[in-house]
Amino acid sequence: MPKILIKTQKEIERIRDCGALVAETLARAGEMCKPGVTTQEIDNFVKEFTLKNGAIPACLGYNGFPKSVCTSVNEVVTHGIPSSYVLKNSDIINVDITSILNGYHADSSETFFVGEPKPNASELVAVSRECLFEGIRVCGLSNARFSDIGAIISGITEEHGFSVVRDYCGHGIGRSFHENPLVLHYRQMLPGPKIEQGMVFTIEPMINEGIHKTRLLADKWTAVTADGKLSAQWEHTIAITPHGVEILTLAR
Ligand code: MF3
Ligand code: CO
Ligand code: CO
Repeated sequence: MPKILIKTQKEIERIRDCGALVAETLARAGEMCKPGVTTQEIDNFVKEFTLKNGAIPACLGYNGFPKSVCTSVNEVVTHGIPSSYVLKNSDIINVDITSILNGYHADSSETFFVGEPKPNASELVAVSRECLFEGIRVCGLSNARFSDIGAIISGITEEHGFSVVRDYCGHGIGRSFHENPLVLHYRQMLPGPKIEQGMVFTIEPMINEGIHKTRLLADKWTAVTADGKLSAQWEHTIAITPHGVEILTLAR
């Protein structure tokens, strides 16, 4: 298992500062998710607001990604590209924002309802949110291991007859956007590495209404559910501190 970087308190402070900006950007982007708005307009806002606050939109140009934010609507699992698509009543949209402030990354996403949600969508979004917060909670327990995250998330998801995406996962984060470890959201056979003080990583479960399988569109970014049913995701960047687990992507 390649090395998991341990961050100093100072580094965690930097990521927290970036996280506060990401949280504010995400809340404002969420306010924009109304019928009639295009995903490109959300991208425009995220790019301008991030730059205005002295930060860099990490997605822009990352491995060739063409926009500043990921906007994943309905059956899009992750990495949706902002476009001229016009949001309509009862869509669900995940807005995933990563910024770089003073050299450090923070990464967070939420799934928003556009207008009035359909009952199945509202259950799926609630379950994916619960998966994130339960995943975070188990990281704060003594002797926690990375495999505990997938175990709790799989249990919650199965109770509702939904499925956990396996093709994308959470990740360590800091000076780099994506670093060790891989944070798997599904149940594993073997115990993972121990979760230790100074580790900073994301938890970002993608929960599907139907089967867990995904399919990549021709643009090589947009991942959709193989069965065309809905997918929802929530993400925070967290740190393991001497006081327990802390969410770094919170507004101040
Ligand atoms: N924010 C995504 C994540 O949670 C990664 C997006 S990479 C991009 O890890 F290139 F699509 F922007
Ligand atoms: Co993200
Ligand atoms: Co992430």
